[in-house]
Amino acid sequence: MTKAGFVVVANRLPVDRIVGADGEEIWRTSPGGLVTALEPVMRETDGAWVGWPGQADLVHEPFDFDGTALIPVTLSAEDVELYYEGFSNDTIWPLYHDVIAAPRYRRVWWDAYVRVNERFARAAADAASEGATVWVQDYQLQLVPKLLRELRPDLTIGYFHHIPFPAYGLYSQLPWRRQVLEGLLGADVIGFQRVADAGNFARAVRRQLRFETKATGIRVPQEDGSSRVALARAFPISIDTASYVEMARRPDIQARAAEIRESLGNPKRILLGVDRLDYTKGIQHRLKAFGELLEDGRIGIEDATLVQVASPSRERVQAYMELRDEIELAVARINGDRDTLGHTAIRYLHQGFPREEMVALYLAADVMLVTALRDGMNLVAKEYVASRVDNRGTLVLSEFAGAADELGTALRVNPHDIDALKQAIVRAVEMPSAEQGRRMRAMRRKVLDNDVAAWSHSFLDALEASRTTKGSTP
Ligand code: G6P
Repeated sequence: MTKAGFVVVANRLPVDRIVGADGEEIWRTSPGGLVTALEPVMRETDGAWVGWPGQADLVHEPFDFDGTALIPVTLSAEDVELYYEGFSNDTIWPLYHDVIAAPRYRRVWWDAYVRVNERFARAAADAASEGATVWVQDYQLQLVPKLLRELRPDLTIGYFHHIPFPAYGLYSQLPWRRQVLEGLLGADVIGFQRVADAGNFARAVRRQLRFETKATGIRVPQEDGSSRVALARAFPISIDTASYVEMARRPDIQARAAEIRESLGNPKRILLGVDRLDYTKGIQHRLKAFGELLEDGRIGIEDATLVQVASPSRERVQAYMELRDEIELAVARINGDRDTLGHTAIRYLHQGFPREEMVALYLAADVMLVTALRDGMNLVAKEYVASRVDNRGTLVLSEFAGAADELGTALRVNPHDIDALKQAIVRAVEMPSAEQGRRMRAMRRKVLDNDVAAWSHSFLDALEASRTTKGSTP
């Protein structure tokens, strides 16, 4: 296979494998902003994407998909259990989200994480041409930058961390805290969602490794006694804004939005929550607040319906199974207590939907509830804003979501404060149209100006600048 000048390394490939009734294999683009953002770069540079095809024990040759070389990395059932469900999603995920669930530190999981990170690093090293740029994505692959640099010192390596980086007091729980920091520092540029995440990372590096940090630069000593500077700073990710605007303007999608309202019995207000079913999203807090508002009579059952889309996620991890039970119990209790034959309090959907249907839901929703207890960015908040081409609707947004840094005119809440959350919901439900417009317009400007293409350009420009200062040739 020809070598690529630009290589993305991510836990997942940007496609899903579907096997038809006749046994025919089809690969379909998986929904996600990253794929869209990188498409042009991929095309210009003969790009390659290294990732797991999403199923255990799937062995597949590299193949071309829409002009990008896809390089599948095989994970055995054991790798999936120990590296993906275990270390990635039962150690790092809860630890980095402020221990909302208790992280489990298991040595066999760590061993598998090292082993699988080595496999990804080798696949990337094999795919990259001399002097190529490699962009590693997210917490499942924190060791890849260092491993890759050892295999291929000629490469320029970037890493983007899509989830939060925790405060030092929490991070220091990790038994392998030094190895993870060293792994990340193999990159020339380490990108975070928020300024605070980059700050937490720099502090961990100072405390654990005693490396010198200056503004966004970290001096990394080399074995030969010299040193290089790695850049660690915020690059807040975004969405493919134009495609949301375009969908929101489509008459068929607007008609679908009206149909959704109709099918819910045309309540005065529709409230909406859209999340992966994850304990970081604050779904229970939202349900509690809404349930109490109905109980207090501050919101009447005829006046509002909450539509909660909770897409299935990581279903074999214990904490996720427990969460599902808790949420479904809460929904059933509230509905059992409050529903009438004609109206339902909460319409709960444990399903994923196509993007078009999501945009129709965004257009149907008067109030969007994003109540994450901790979230790297929360792209749902940006999708809602992008879709509101009518400049209406109210976003209730947790201050613990990265999006709160940019969407300053949302109704900002601390989701742990149930009374404040209730107050924000009432305020959103009652907000006059002119105020909705003023707030929404300001947020829309942000999301229109800073889309995912701008994000990837700014990251790749910083990476290119680091290459220039290194003095190597492309
Ligand atoms: C978050 C992570 C991604 C991950 C996604 C879905 O957004 O930052 O890296 O791909 O969740 O989770 P999954 O475990 O299904 O890949």
